[in-house]
Amino acid sequence: MKRTLLIFLILFIAMQLIQTEQSNVAINKSKEIQAPENIMTLLKVSCYDCHSDEVNWPWYSNIAPFSWVISEHVNSGRKWLNFSVWEDYTEEEKKKKMKGIYRTAYAVMPLQSYIWLHEEADLTKEQRKLIRNWTGVRKSK
Ligand code: HEC
Repeated sequence: MKRTLLIFLILFIAMQLIQTEQSNVAINKSKEIQAPENIMTLLKVSCYDCHSDEVNWPWYSNIAPFSWVISEHVNSGRKWLNFSVWEDYTEEEKKKKMKGIYRTAYAVMPLQSYIWLHEEADLTKEQRKLIRNWTGVRKSK
């Protein structure tokens, strides 16, 4: 029993040596997405921790294995959609991303694992509707 604990402890410490890159690049506010205040508030509370350059890294984001999961979420989240550099996207890309927001805001975003730790990020049905209407995407049928 003691031995197992010791092995876990050593593994845990070894895991801490695998560092992840967690940063926010300098922000150029003129490139940020423009939206009515109520929508901006929703995006900031529910999406910005993975889809912007204004990520609030929680204290546990420094501890492996959480650090690995969180960095992966932010890196891949930003790759798909980064509200901080919205104006760098082409019109075509913006349209595609708005469609993505329309689709994902229905249920899958924000990620469930994120909501477990950030209750305030959960969206009500009404709030999801507000975001979806804001995208300007209409159902094709
Ligand atoms: C905890 C991190 C996290 C939060 C918070 C989050 N996302 Fe995501 N999002 C991701 C990740 C990671 C991906 C990459 C694809 C995947 O793994 O599902 C993604 C992908 C996306 C995509 C592209 C995927 C597609 O199928 O088109 C859209 C659009 C999106 N998110 C919108 C949102 C919106 C809108 C919010 C806020 C309501 C939000 N996300 C909140 C992590 C997050």
